[in-house]
Amino acid sequence: MRRGGSSNAFSRSSHRADEHDDEEALRWAALERLPTRDRARTAVLDHFPGRDDGVRAVDVGRLAPGERAALLRRVASVADDHGRFLARFKERVDRVGIELPTIEVRYENLCVEAEAYVGSRGLPTILHTYANVLEGMANSLHITPNRKQKISVLHNVSGTIKPHRMTLLLGPPGAGKTTLLLALAGTLPSSLEMSGKITYNGHTMDEFVPRRSAAYVSQNDLHIGELTVRETVNFSAKCQGSGHRFDLLMELSRREKEANIKPDPEIDVYLKAAATGEQKAEVVTNHILKILGLDMCADTIVGNNMLRGISGGQKKRVTTAEMLVTPGRALFMDEISTGLDSSTTFQIVNSIRQTIHILGGTAVISLLQPAPETYELFDDIILLSDGQVVYNGPREHVLGFFESVGFKCPERKGVADFLQEISGNVL
Ligand SMILES: Nc1ncnc2c1ncn2[C@@H]1O[C@H](COP(=O)(O)OP(=O)(O)OP(=O)(O)O)[C@@H](O)[C@H]1O
Ligand SMILES: [Mg+2]
Repeated sequence: MRRGGSSNAFSRSSHRADEHDDEEALRWAALERLPTRDRARTAVLDHFPGRDDGVRAVDVGRLAPGERAALLRRVASVADDHGRFLARFKERVDRVGIELPTIEVRYENLCVEAEAYVGSRGLPTILHTYANVLEGMANSLHITPNRKQKISVLHNVSGTIKPHRMTLLLGPPGAGKTTLLLALAGTLPSSLEMSGKITYNGHTMDEFVPRRSAAYVSQNDLHIGELTVRETVNFSAKCQGSGHRFDLLMELSRREKEANIKPDPEIDVYLKAAATGEQKAEVVTNHILKILGLDMCADTIVGNNMLRGISGGQKKRVTTAEMLVTPGRALFMDEISTGLDSSTTFQIVNSIRQTIHILGGTAVISLLQPAPETYELFDDIILLSDGQVVYNGPREHVLGFFESVGFKCPERKGVADFLQEISGNVL
């Protein structure tokens, strides 16, 4: 009897599962018949609360509050395993033959100079401030000679940063790492004079808006102390226009219909939720917070000197998160590991590496004393010393190169430490 009972229960549950599958198949079939534009905005949600059949098709562009919460719950689990999520997304894009755009950054004969008052004149006293303003006006009218001294920060550096590869920027303090990253990201302050050429896929900086294609993560953490971590990242996402590109989704949807391919439902619902509607910044924010391990402190205030908030290491990660939510595909990150332990640094750099390798992004990351396992994650190395590039090339050849010019890495010394040490002595 017990056996009979259990087989009955099994057949009842399998019957319900069949019904659920039928229902989902019907929804998909109905979705197929919609025009491409509507199809790219309609997601099928299963386990929808308050419905017997559990399946429902919703327009992600116009969600009711209950639907929005259900959608966010549904996509929360999709991006749990970042590497797997990226691989599934890439598989979907590859299956219909869409090539994701990549960026190759070249810099040629790049010189950066600063003009500054040196010696006691450089002190910001009240007298000097007024004198500097008056002298500045007199200089512009060519009445008095310019007493500012020119300081050369980068001397005639050239190189290439390739997509699909991670580049590590190393150099002692004051070598010009921040200046090089700012110049490459197109955000050099106007007080610095730049000459030379920087191109993205052959286009010079004045042919496009660099801030849409490149993201510079600052070395300093500047935040509004009263906002929570989630609010800070969400604000950044909304200001900079985050989310997946809707036109990519439309093209995917159109090609999949032509080839009669049913997409992976989990990836499908994530992409739709991240491409349209009010919730798109929230979806991307949640994903980035999870990658950077900030989901535990997402609702804590950031804080400042007067207001106790998140820890220093978490603040550093918030600075990184603010830029990772942007649509920029060329990442320039300045000392993102300061104040972080080596295993957290490894995890963050590894997640960025997965994104760069799978989706074909471009990244230059400067790190201070990376641990050997973090160093191994990089493909290329740029070594700067006193404003000059000492080495720019693959990681595998760096030791051979320095050995050929007489610098041998001692046994049991980390390669990154060795490079940092000799870059101070080479010139
Ligand atoms: N606006 C400026 N005026 C005067 N000197 C400047 C200016 N900007 C940069 N410099 C000088 O250029 C050099 C390189 O500065 P940069 O900030 O790029 O170094 P860095 O490699 O990033 O150092 P760190 O590892 O300490 O961050 C420094 O000697 C700095 O004093
Ligand atoms: Mg710096």
